[in-house]
Amino acid sequence: MDNNILIPDHVPSELVLRFNFRDDDEFRRDPWGYIASLAEKPDIFFSPDLGGYWVVTRSDLIDEVFRRHELFTATSLSIPKMVNPLKLIPNSFDPPDHSGYRQILANNLFSPRALATLEDDSRDFSRALFGAFQPGRCEFVHDFAYKLPIDIFLALMGAHPSHRDECLSWIYGIFRGRSLQEMRDGFTAAYDFVTRWLTEQLADPERNQGSMFRAMVASRLNGRALTFEEMHSITIMLFTGGLDTVTSQMTHIMRFLAESPEHRHYLLDHPEKIPVALEEMLRRFGISFIGRAAAKDFEYHGVTFKEGDPVCAGTPIAGLDPRAFPDPLTVDFNRAQGHRVKHLGFGSGPHLCVGAYLARTQIRVMLEELLPRMPNLRVTPGRTIENAPGATMMLKALPLEWDA
Ligand code: HEM
Repeated sequence: MDNNILIPDHVPSELVLRFNFRDDDEFRRDPWGYIASLAEKPDIFFSPDLGGYWVVTRSDLIDEVFRRHELFTATSLSIPKMVNPLKLIPNSFDPPDHSGYRQILANNLFSPRALATLEDDSRDFSRALFGAFQPGRCEFVHDFAYKLPIDIFLALMGAHPSHRDECLSWIYGIFRGRSLQEMRDGFTAAYDFVTRWLTEQLADPERNQGSMFRAMVASRLNGRALTFEEMHSITIMLFTGGLDTVTSQMTHIMRFLAESPEHRHYLLDHPEKIPVALEEMLRRFGISFIGRAAAKDFEYHGVTFKEGDPVCAGTPIAGLDPRAFPDPLTVDFNRAQGHRVKHLGFGSGPHLCVGAYLARTQIRVMLEELLPRMPNLRVTPGRTIENAPGATMMLKALPLEWDA
């Protein structure tokens, strides 16, 4: 990746600072400490890494980047910027073009009807995955966190579970690719897979029993059915938005609970508090670095943006901003006095994560099902936990032990 780009003329030298969320040793060593330290940096700075992009460090401004699509367009989402990126429905569209697609997702694909079996499926799959662990130990990332979201998602889409590994390999390229080429290869593989799969399904849609797939086929946009291209784009969007994210989120939460008996016992004693506690953990362990581009030339909080400049809105940065959350590195389940803490872990504004309910349900059920089955849970002593940076932050592996 080109880290030696020329700094554009409109960027003052005092605003140039290095930050590479895809590939940086310091970041890899201590991602949360590194991110928390960004609060001491300018509110907005320019990193020459990843092709050059703006980084926003204040939670309130990150919220604005998500909301103000007239300044920060979602038509260019990736950092580094891609030429001719895949247009993902609905994520790559700004309002008003975004609105019709968004309604289809929110009202049809993610309707209570389409997700009717989600809770039970999450429970059944969680128990089955636990049942396949060796007694008293597992490698949580590969044995559970990768598998649960994809098994549930393939079931909702009516896709055969055997597609699991193929999907995981290109998701890895897209989110954890260290070069533009690796990201592109990931997208190409995703594109080809979805083309083949969707062509097969649409040849005889009645055979597909996936509630989300059926909702997509039945959807109407201004009175017409979705085209093949639209369904293709939505399917890729869901695969890319809904798998790596849930997996990553689970890895950080389980590591934290394995290392903090006090928090774990609280949840075991008060399972009804899991939803509130989960929001605090989603704040503390934000995972997504989301891209935007300047929609035009403009001044914003004293900084000059030129049309097309890439801009990063990082949900981990927002969650660890002490101006929004005092003592941000501390996990305090009572931070919002028994209410759910408001965070940007799922974004905000028009693109607020449409899969948030799906994600919250899976993680809540994971905690409800696994914690009581793992007495005296701990990270396997002597093992180093490595971070896997990327557009979503994950752990490479998480060896866990408990009293069987
Ligand atoms: C813990 C898990 C998850 C996290 C942290 C997360 C995070 C996010 C964030 C930050 C955004 C905003 C993107 C932007 O503004 O450009 C977003 C959007 C989106 N997410 Fe999620 N997500 C998660 C799970 C899911 C799941 C399970 C699905 C579906 C299967 C999903 C589907 C989507 C879609 C379709 C959008 C775009 C919505 C739009 O453009 O209107 N996400 N997500």
